[in-house]
Amino acid sequence: MEIQEITLDRLDPVEFIARKSQELSAAVGEGLAINALSGGVDSSVVTALGHKALGNRLKTYVIDNGIMRKDEPAQIAEQFRSIGIPIEVVDAREQFYSALKGLTDPEEKREAITQTFYREVFGDLVKRSGARFLLQGTIFTDVEETVAGVKRQHNILSQLGIDTVEQFGYEVIEPLIELRKPGVRMIGEALGLPHGMYNRPPFPGPALAARIIGEVTPERVALVREATAIVEEELAGSGAFQYLAILHEDRVTGIRDGRRDYGNQIEVRCWESKDAKTATPTRLDYDILQRIASRMTSEVPGVVSVTYNITSKPTSTIEAI
Ligand code: XMP
Repeated sequence: MEIQEITLDRLDPVEFIARKSQELSAAVGEGLAINALSGGVDSSVVTALGHKALGNRLKTYVIDNGIMRKDEPAQIAEQFRSIGIPIEVVDAREQFYSALKGLTDPEEKREAITQTFYREVFGDLVKRSGARFLLQGTIFTDVEETVAGVKRQHNILSQLGIDTVEQFGYEVIEPLIELRKPGVRMIGEALGLPHGMYNRPPFPGPALAARIIGEVTPERVALVREATAIVEEELAGSGAFQYLAILHEDRVTGIRDGRRDYGNQIEVRCWESKDAKTATPTRLDYDILQRIASRMTSEVPGVVSVTYNITSKPTSTIEAI
C-alpha cells in the first residue's frame, strides 16, 4: 500500500484524531492491543491517541531495554500515570544486552534490537496479555528513509515486506504513519498532552545504541549515558531540534595528571531541522562548546577528547548508526 503523506497545511488535528480513533476502535474490536512507550514524541502521542480510542482495550508497557537515558523508564512511567494512563514497566535489559553482545555492524545492531523488541519482548507480552495488535508510532520519515535505503529504522516492518502476523503472531497498527514530526506534535497538543511530552527533542527507537559506534556493552552504555546527560543539561535551552553525544570506537592518546591516558572520544552533535529529513549543525556559542568539553573530560570516566560535528544531513545522519 502506498502511504500518502498528510502535510501540515492539510492536517486538521480534530478531524485526524476522530478518524484515527474510529479506525483504531474498529480494528481492535472487542480484542486487546498493546503498545510500548519509549517516552519519545511519537510513542507518547500514539499512547495518548490509543488510550483515547481504546481505553482499557490498550495495555501500555515501558520496556527497560538497558539502553535508555538516566532514570528514563521510571520517569516516563510516572509522567503517564500522572495523566491517568496506566503503565507497566518491563525489565528486558538482559535480553537486549545478550542480543547486542559482540555486534559492531550498525545494521546488525539495529536488526538485533528489532528482533529483540518484536520477536522476544512483544512476542512474550502478546502471549501474556492475549493481545492481537501492537500499536506503534511509526512516522512518514521512518518509512521514507527505510524504503529509500537510507537507513533501516527499527520500527519498519510491513513496508519491507515483513508479515508480522506470520513472523511474530500479532498485527501492527501505525496511526501516525502519514505524518512527519511537526504533524505528530500538533496531534499531541490537540490530545491535551502536557507541552513537554509532545515538544521534546526526538529520541531514536534504538535509544543510546544509536549513539555507540562499535559494540554496545553495559559499560559503554553507561559512558554514553553520562555524556548524554551533560549534553542535554547544557543544550536544553538552545532551542535546537536535537542534541546528542556519540561514543566513538577509536581510542586516542590524551594526557591526564601529567601521564599518557589512552582514552575515549565523545562527539557532540546539535541539529537544526524541521522534519529530521535534512539537518544542519547548530552554530553553538564557543563558550558552550568549551563548557561541554570540560564537563565531559572531568565527569565522564575515560574521556580525553571531545569533538563537535560540523557536517550537515546529508551526508551525515542525525544519529551515529
Ligand atoms: P537519522 O539518524 O536517521 O535520524 O538521521 C532521523 C530521526 O529519526 C530518529 N531515529 C529513529 N527513530 N527509530 C525511530 O523511531 C529508529 O530506528 C531511529 N533512528 C533514528 C533520530 O533521532 C532523528 O530524529
